[in-house]
Amino acid sequence: MKQVYKNIKSLMGVYDAPVERLKGLEMAIVPSIDNAFLVVEDGKIADFGEMARFDVSSYGDATVSDLSGQYVFPAFADSHTHIVYAGSRELEYEDKIRGLSYAEIAKRGGGILNSADLLRRTSEDDLYEMAMERLMRCVEGGTAAMEIKSGYGLSTVDELKMLRVIRRMKENAPIVVKSNFLAAHAFPREYLTNHDGYVDLIVNEMIPQVAAEDLADFVDVFCDEGFFTVPQTERILRAGVEHSMRPKIHANELALSGGVQIGVKYGALSVDHLEHVGIDERNALRDSKTMATVLPGAAFFLGMNYAPAREMINDGLAVAVASDYNPGSSPSASMKFVLSLASIKMRLLPVEALNAATVNGACAMGLAGEYGQIVKGLKANFVITKPMPSYAYFPYAYTENLIDKVVINK
Ligand code: NIG
Ligand code: FE
Repeated sequence: MKQVYKNIKSLMGVYDAPVERLKGLEMAIVPSIDNAFLVVEDGKIADFGEMARFDVSSYGDATVSDLSGQYVFPAFADSHTHIVYAGSRELEYEDKIRGLSYAEIAKRGGGILNSADLLRRTSEDDLYEMAMERLMRCVEGGTAAMEIKSGYGLSTVDELKMLRVIRRMKENAPIVVKSNFLAAHAFPREYLTNHDGYVDLIVNEMIPQVAAEDLADFVDVFCDEGFFTVPQTERILRAGVEHSMRPKIHANELALSGGVQIGVKYGALSVDHLEHVGIDERNALRDSKTMATVLPGAAFFLGMNYAPAREMINDGLAVAVASDYNPGSSPSASMKFVLSLASIKMRLLPVEALNAATVNGACAMGLAGEYGQIVKGLKANFVITKPMPSYAYFPYAYTENLIDKVVINK
């Protein structure tokens, strides 16, 4: 099966060889071919180039689409989501509007614990249906690879239930899915006065069982003020790493928590959120392979300061952006809006934000060099836009639906 796309206004994110990550000044370049063609064969990128080199006679049996005026760029790798959940939390949204902070809501037993109560009452089948529906909305929005976390179970049986839902999604979704074990998302009610007891449960009971069923690619901890401390995080990461789970950390959303440094120490694929980072955090990241992942949707929804992504890129770091799709701090499937926020609020150039959501997003979820780019031989996963005057129009027109088609090959 061959598909040919011709007269593409600009084919973006093209490389001769796979690229693993982009940092600092490299992030301002998206290699592109104007007036291009692209050939997909058996789900893979077979050829691309300038229209001047396009020879229609060699594609006699192919379906040909004319994309005059339209842009093609690599589909998004959304490296941070929590889309397995039950119910919504718009009542807390009202509390927030009245002035309560995320931390205050959590302290009152709302927030993540509210979602945990609902999830525990919901069957695996129902959770699967709801989460798959959300995933399909993300695919329509241009996502071809997605990381999904547990973390609303907060007991052995319910965390396993969530991870089994994610395993079914891995098997059945049209896109590639990675699973992340995040029991250390909040302290459940049963352990509100015995935090270390919950860490013992995670380390001694949950991690071995999750590993025995091979349910998680990654291990995550919400290492932040009012949540998990650095020593508790370290215990969980050590146990995860011993069971072949690569760390990805929720770090420095609410304070200078030490989460970045502990993530780097344990070789985390990424440290995520980063609304609070200083010079020590940037120095730790500079000499590491850990991706700095920012989540502008959460800062937007919670009315927080945005992570200093501009400064981090100026500092030479590699930055990824992700949706953080979840019911409490970012109830949105739209990567397009994330790109707009990254540009408007974090001062990333539109092409920097695109690199952050594609090449670097893939890297942040263990798919470096495989997703988020147009390279011969790689799976063909890309977004075809509606006709636009320039690429920057995509994040600029921030409520306009500018996606014509998403081509996905798992
Ligand atoms: O990434 N910060 C911690 N966890 C999620 C929010 C989860 C929730 O509120 O349900 C986040 O923003
Ligand atoms: Fe998150």
